[in-house]
Amino acid sequence: MAVSADPSSTQLAPILRKTPEPPWDQALIPKERYLSAEVMRLEWERMWRRVWLYAGPLSDLAAVGDYFTFEIGPESVLVVRTAPDRVQAMYNVCQHRGRRIRQQGCGFARAFTCPYHRWRYSLEGRLVSAPDADFDFPQANPVAAGLCLPQVRCEVFEGLVFVNFDQRAEALAEYLTRDVMEHLHSYRWGAEFRINLDWTVAWPCNWKIGVDSFNELYHLQGIHPELMDMSDDTPAACPLDFYGRHSRFIYRVGVPGPRWDDAMARARGYRDANQITAGVRLMLKGLGLEPRPQWEGRVKELRPVLIAAARERANRQGIDTSGLVDDQLLDDFHYFLFPNITLNISAHHFWLFRHRPHPTDPERMLWDFQQFVRVRPGQAAPPRPPHENYVIGDGHEARFPHIALAQDEAQAEELQCGMRSAGFRGLYLAHQERRIRYFHRVLEEYLAQP
Ligand code: FES
Ligand SMILES: [Fe+2]
Repeated sequence: MAVSADPSSTQLAPILRKTPEPPWDQALIPKERYLSAEVMRLEWERMWRRVWLYAGPLSDLAAVGDYFTFEIGPESVLVVRTAPDRVQAMYNVCQHRGRRIRQQGCGFARAFTCPYHRWRYSLEGRLVSAPDADFDFPQANPVAAGLCLPQVRCEVFEGLVFVNFDQRAEALAEYLTRDVMEHLHSYRWGAEFRINLDWTVAWPCNWKIGVDSFNELYHLQGIHPELMDMSDDTPAACPLDFYGRHSRFIYRVGVPGPRWDDAMARARGYRDANQITAGVRLMLKGLGLEPRPQWEGRVKELRPVLIAAARERANRQGIDTSGLVDDQLLDDFHYFLFPNITLNISAHHFWLFRHRPHPTDPERMLWDFQQFVRVRPGQAAPPRPPHENYVIGDGHEARFPHIALAQDEAQAEELQCGMRSAGFRGLYLAHQERRIRYFHRVLEEYLAQP
């Protein structure tokens, strides 16, 4: 597998090159930051209001007048296509008495009329009419005075709309870094991927528990036994990389790692660790392959076969894979975009998790789960899925596209309970969990800037 080559070699495809390791410290990550209202307030003032935030898919803004709202902490933002080549964002709050102009969701508007006293704003957010405007406002006619919905910075990358409350913020490209942009661009998201699942689940924990949960592979052997026969989660196999504020691991799929030994295989009903398991069989089937007798007992050597099959299948489907290296066809390229986006990327689909803080409670969060699938040339895009809201325990768990997501989600409340315990001081991290440390370090840097 490609990881066995020298990962710092310039001979490797750029997406596989190892980034330098930042210097590491060993301090506990203090648990107070998962509990404290004061930390929550600081995060809002010093971090959330200064970073680029994924707001929603550009495909929701196909026509002029299409809009969606984006809720983050105490704010709601209106994101609108105001011209064929322009998307704008503005605070979703009427300048009269402060009513929220549009309810959460997406839709189409020719203008935005506030439902309370009928102040009417253009798509761009300029107040164009207000009842009695011309005679009853002693401080000046609000229309003539040029009242507007305050603008929010807005940029698009690969079919994803980002916003930033800070008018002085660096450009999105600079924020994301050239490396991350090039890596993500290789999948051709903007041109070929469409959303087909859109959930929000209320999690009873701080938003950083959501982030942390997906920033390490150490828990795979703990809570995802179903993955052990078909993936290598060990630190030696899964490189970690750091790009600006962001990070990545490559999660190796298609071959079991050393944790999948004879004892573990026997516990799952197999003769030994080299047998072709139901999970591997399923993967083969997905790639259009039937298990061959010569593969029996050699399951750890199947990776090249799987990669070739994945590329062949993609080409058969008319997908241009020329920009993807072999590893991208099989592995989960797993990016964390600071502060709150987790991406699980494979050649045919990707998952986007967005971890949002609750508007007022540091011990609650909103976990957004969006799935995007590749729409092959000539194929109709899937219909825009409805946005669905869930709470833990309401039965949605059985409808996750993979059982691992329910297993991850089940940790949230238990982790938050532990944060409240006098018997716990803070996170005692393994080296392989250093993406969590890196995330907290970047966050700390924001919180230190008045
Ligand atoms: S609050 Fe919007 S028109 Fe009065
Ligand atoms: Fe997990």
